Amino acid sequence: MRSSPLLLLGAALSQAAPNCPPLGPAFQKPTSLLSDPIIKDALANLTSIFSARDNDNSASVLANSTSWSIEVFSTNPDSPTLWEWHHTAPELAVSNTTGVKKVDGNTVYRLGSLTKVFTVLTWLVQDGMAKWNDPITNYVPELREAAERARREKDPVRNIPWDEVTIGALAGQMSGAIRDYGLMGEMTQQYDQSDAVALGFPPLDSSDKTLPPCGAWPLCNRTEFFQGLLQAYPSYAPFTTPAYTNTGYQILAYALESIKGDKKFGDMMQDSVLNRLGLNHTYYVYANESVGVVPGNASDAGWYWQLGDENPAGNMYSSTTDLSTLGRSILSSTLLPPSLSQSWLKPLAFTSELYAGLSTPWGVRRIPHPLYSPSTAKRVVDSFNKAGRIGYYSSLMTLLPDYDIGFSILIAGPAIPGNTNFNLADILGRVLLPALERSARAQTSNIFAGTYTDPNRNSSLRLTTDAQRPGLGIENWVSNNTDMQAISVALSVGYNPIQGSIRLYPTGLETVRQDGSKKVAFKAVYEDIGLPARPYEENMFSTDCGTWVSFTGVTYGTHALDQFVFELDKSGKVASLESLALRSVMRRQSSS
Ligand SMILES: *[C@@H]1O[C@H](CO)[C@@H](O)[C@H](O)[C@H]1NC(C)=O
Ligand SMILES: *[C@@H]1O[C@H](CO)[C@@H](O)[C@H](O)[C@H]1NC(C)=O
Ligand SMILES: *[C@@H]1O[C@H](CO)[C@@H](O)[C@H](O)[C@H]1NC(C)=O
Ligand SMILES: *[C@@H]1O[C@H](CO)[C@@H](O)[C@H](O)[C@H]1NC(C)=O
Ligand SMILES: *[C@@H]1O[C@H](CO)[C@@H](O)[C@H](O)[C@H]1NC(C)=O
Ligand SMILES: *[C@@H]1O[C@H](CO)[C@@H](O)[C@H](O)[C@H]1NC(C)=O
Ligand SMILES: *[C@@H]1O[C@H](CO)[C@@H](O)[C@H](O)[C@H]1NC(C)=O
Ligand SMILES: *[C@@H]1O[C@H](CO)[C@@H](O)[C@H](O)[C@H]1NC(C)=O
Ligand SMILES: *[C@@H]1O[C@H](CO)[C@@H](O)[C@H](O)[C@H]1NC(C)=O
Repeated sequence: MRSSPLLLLGAALSQAAPNCPPLGPAFQKPTSLLSDPIIKDALANLTSIFSARDNDNSASVLANSTSWSIEVFSTNPDSPTLWEWHHTAPELAVSNTTGVKKVDGNTVYRLGSLTKVFTVLTWLVQDGMAKWNDPITNYVPELREAAERARREKDPVRNIPWDEVTIGALAGQMSGAIRDYGLMGEMTQQYDQSDAVALGFPPLDSSDKTLPPCGAWPLCNRTEFFQGLLQAYPSYAPFTTPAYTNTGYQILAYALESIKGDKKFGDMMQDSVLNRLGLNHTYYVYANESVGVVPGNASDAGWYWQLGDENPAGNMYSSTTDLSTLGRSILSSTLLPPSLSQSWLKPLAFTSELYAGLSTPWGVRRIPHPLYSPSTAKRVVDSFNKAGRIGYYSSLMTLLPDYDIGFSILIAGPAIPGNTNFNLADILGRVLLPALERSARAQTSNIFAGTYTDPNRNSSLRLTTDAQRPGLGIENWVSNNTDMQAISVALSVGYNPIQGSIRLYPTGLETVRQDGSKKVAFKAVYEDIGLPARPYEENMFSTDCGTWVSFTGVTYGTHALDQFVFELDKSGKVASLESLALRSVMRRQSSS
């Protein structure tokens, strides 16, 4: 089972293949974060970075006029809030604001499009995903008529085939419809005609049906909305390519109201989400400015500006404390069955940004983990993000399911520098992601690493961690006198590997018994990391990261060679490790 020295030499000349972990956490999710020295160090760094930022009045920060509230939250019961930072703009403090003079975790900001997270969650709590593939025309009669017209006229450039637009297409920004009707971006609502004409646009006759009679002011009612919307050309046919729409979220609310027997959408959100989570600083419509941050006066700030029937797309108000409660609830699936939450936090489509996809309404950002070099591991952390911008406000919520952690970011100011919300997330991520992975590795090592032996036969292995690699390494694996280390990799990859590697990753499968003891399942990945790497730049189709295809590829009497189960006693100490295929239970001997 030994590889030849010649092959080893060949491998050393080119770059070796990286480990390819399964998508998901590389280690047990870290706990007791506030007492973890690695996390404490990172949080101290955040504090010093943000202290300096408080005094940074450069064009990209504008700390003098911009206020922000930031919370890093976790689902860990011992550290629900990992870190928070609240910056009150000096200009706000000395102004005659009708809002708060000092921002904190309960200060209410406007959310803009971050509202859409509440909207989709309301739908999922009320109705799950069972209707996700139903045509929207089942629930919205105005669109049924439009679909009939589209079928009759056979003019796809002019008409959207609304009966091919599903609930999921609207929630996932794949309808191909117009972004807003009469609201944001509609020049005839924003400017006087004469201004538009001066810019080079032709005058529109007041009898022109395409001239919105409503929008920002007065708000469109449902009849006017559909009359206007159905005059708009489609951007694309349904499911062609992501194209962000606010109108889609307005239509979703009409559909849910119809499914639920004409209950008001806002009432359903109040019952299903806001009341159940105790979000007392979150408002679907009109928050009182006395609880909010109001830079300038309320009218300039857009504090009371309501979107009417488009409210489900962007009208809401909330605080970082409430957003964090919402985020924890999503990560720990308190309002939804776990499989529905898992499904919700998966991408539905790609975008032309290689590192990005989208879901409902999440933007999915795929982060190559900064702790690893691409030559040692393809470790990707998927983050789920929703941002918003309205009036003098900007927002962002980020979920990192690999660590059960998230960020709530709310910003207010008369001239918020572009991209501030994501800039803040970048700062948090740069400091936190390496620390979280190192903490997860150290904690996983403490709990699981060590030598395991079967007292009844010559069977044993060692579990280790490696600063360059994700997961727990299996080393010196002997099974009943044979070198299972080499045999298992050879069986899995189908040849004698140049440099075998076996690493274990958590599956998330846990059985907790009444007395607190538990079984925890891990997946092994068997790889030949002595093969040459296949970088993207040189390989259009070949990959060196197809691990998911090989799971349970080798079984012995039904049980997979790559499935391992740890037994933990009620104090959380690991007692043993079972190889299912080998029917072998090895007891943990030591942590070395
Ligand atoms: C914190 O900052 C110090 C000094 O810049 C750096 O050495 C250390 O690695 C940082 N720690 C974390 C966890 O970011
Ligand atoms: C910041 O705001 C305070 C209060 O309005 C003002 O006194 C100070 O001059 C401002 N500083 C800068 C750099 O604009
Ligand atoms: C605030 O109000 C006081 C009293 O009405 C007025 O004297 C002062 O100029 C105002 N300050 C600002 C910044 O508008
Ligand atoms: C919507 O507005 C139009 C024009 O103002 C009005 O004629 C119509 O009755 C309104 N429809 C509803 C359902 O309120
Ligand atoms: C929210 O308000 C309700 C009613 O006033 C109260 O019972 C509840 O404890 C509050 N929840 C939180 C999280 O403050
Ligand atoms: C906002 O709250 C203040 C104080 O609680 C109250 O006096 C005022 O009437 C409220 N404003 C609105 C628009 O409800
Ligand atoms: C708000 O402030 C602006 C100046 O920034 C002023 O023109 C406007 O009249 C004020 N509006 C109200 C309602 O006070
Ligand atoms: C151990 O290996 C021996 C032969 O090498 C075999 O007879 C025996 O059944 C094996 N025992 C177990 C428990 O695998
Ligand atoms: C256990 O098996 C390994 C692998 O075949 C062998 O090297 C070792 O000597 C054996 N140990 C005992 C105590 O038999």
